[in-house]
Amino acid sequence: MYGLINRSIEGLITARYGADRWQAVRARAGLADEPFVSMRSYDDSLTYALVGAASAELGVPAEALLEAFGQHWTLHVAHASYGDMLRHYGETLPEFIGNLDAMHTQVAAAMPALVPPSFRVNEREDGVLVVEYRSTRAGLAPMVVGLLQGLCVVFQTDHTVRLARARASPDEPDIFELHPAA
Ligand code: HEM
Repeated sequence: MYGLINRSIEGLITARYGADRWQAVRARAGLADEPFVSMRSYDDSLTYALVGAASAELGVPAEALLEAFGQHWTLHVAHASYGDMLRHYGETLPEFIGNLDAMHTQVAAAMPALVPPSFRVNEREDGVLVVEYRSTRAGLAPMVVGLLQGLCVVFQTDHTVRLARARASPDEPDIFELHPAA
């Protein structure tokens, strides 16, 4: 994944736990003490190693870290650094989720090695938003929960996000439901 993802993980850990704990996580993951380059594509194994090391070092389950990172990404990184771009992709939550693939396609113009996820959204008659998430990568569903929760805050809706069905194989989607408050 591109360095800006790894940098954002570093930013979250440093903000929540302090620079010393970040150094311990970095060392445990076997990474050199040098800054991530945002626009450089790193091997995915580095990102997974980082999450595994953070989980062990901080005593927090990897799933909880990924969910927190998803929230951090939408609420802080994407909102702060790409706010103008995000506004172009939808005025409502379902419209925005439906345009996530187009948004990542725009991102890929600047980051040609991008391997983006794919999202589809349907609004059920009972108002529940059903989101399908497809990825070549494994284990990121908890991060998507956090990303969707963050988007609910950005769009000022009070949906509850849950993973309704985890994929059984890599060619299937994970399915999430966003339930409006009763
Ligand atoms: C404008 C803001 C955004 C930028 C610049 C961006 C960029 C990226 C980048 C660089 C990656 C790593 C993939 C790679 O390097 O191959 C990525 C992955 C991902 N992005 Fe975005 N993204 C943005 C917003 C979002 C939003 C709002 C969502 C909300 C659902 C999202 C969902 C994901 C997911 C789930 C992945 C993990 C990749 C996978 O599942 O295989 N992104 N994005």
